[in-house]
Amino acid sequence: MNWWREFADRIRHDVPAGRQTWFRMGGPVRHLARPRDAEDLAAIVRRASAEGVPVKVLGAGANVLISDDGFDGLVVRLDAAPFRQIRRDGNTIVAGAGVDLMRLLKWCCGKGLAGLEGLAGIPASIGGGVCMNAGGRFGSFSDVVSRVWLIGDEGEVEGWDRSRLGFGYRGTNIGRRIVLAAELELVEEDPQRTRRHYEQCLGFKQRSQPLAQRTAGCVFKNPGEQSAGAIIDRAELKGASVGQARVSRRHANFIEAHPGATATDVLRLIDVVRKTVRQRSGIELELEIDVWRPARVRECAA
Ligand code: EPU
Repeated sequence: MNWWREFADRIRHDVPAGRQTWFRMGGPVRHLARPRDAEDLAAIVRRASAEGVPVKVLGAGANVLISDDGFDGLVVRLDAAPFRQIRRDGNTIVAGAGVDLMRLLKWCCGKGLAGLEGLAGIPASIGGGVCMNAGGRFGSFSDVVSRVWLIGDEGEVEGWDRSRLGFGYRGTNIGRRIVLAAELELVEEDPQRTRRHYEQCLGFKQRSQPLAQRTAGCVFKNPGEQSAGAIIDRAELKGASVGQARVSRRHANFIEAHPGATATDVLRLIDVVRKTVRQRSGIELELEIDVWRPARVRECAA
């Protein structure tokens, strides 16, 4: 019997989920589940894990590239109402994993709750943002997260305090666990001041990054203190292209997908950038974006 039978009304198969990513490209995902709530999610994850099916969560789709061969596992979308709740208790907020960061930011600005404005313009769901400690020069999730609730492979729910999360540059110890919700400690502030700060942070991004293009944000992590964008720029790669994928002229750590671009174009361009940077400066660039491919392709590449 197929493992997904008991969840049949909320799991679809061979879904072109690439359209739900910012890059809007890539092949089909084998299963796409939209659980009703945390309990349902736990049951689905438990079943899939028992069958050895790899599980991924698609948040805002801003940091993911699905290969042209698709992904042969289970992709979960946390867009049901229980995952999109925001609760407030004084200056403490509990936001579901499926809450859109920009929505939460605006909500907090309106209520005079400060602390998140440094994340303005970063496309993320709360779950995805916490998981990778998304951020930029004005701040990151680790500045405000005090606790998260997670689901493990066995479907068990755990509450982790910030000390256990191991926040680092664009990373945490969360691994394959799925974020259910995060608690954020904010501070009371004059709403107008909070909004001004939000607009300043957003303005900086608008001036220095190709926000109007189809991209997945920064492609590579910054190696140490240096900006990957500046390193790629120094390697004279701005404007370099493969097919319809092009290194942005505005910020070299962005790859723009022009009409007709495929995931293969983007992956080849990533290779070109890595090799050129390695030759020019000896620096090994590490991917910030998450590439989803079928297991057989992953085995060949290993
Ligand atoms: N620079 C260049 N050429 C470029 C890009 C940047 O010379 O093509 C120079 C800039 O002039 C500046 C320095 O590099 O002197 C740093 O650039 P920037 O301030 O844009 O910061 P970044 O380190 O390149 C980081 C984050 C961004 C975030 C910005 C701003 C990473 C990998 N990148 O970029 O995050 O928006 O700071 O806060 O951590 C993302 O994670 O998707 C992302 C875009």
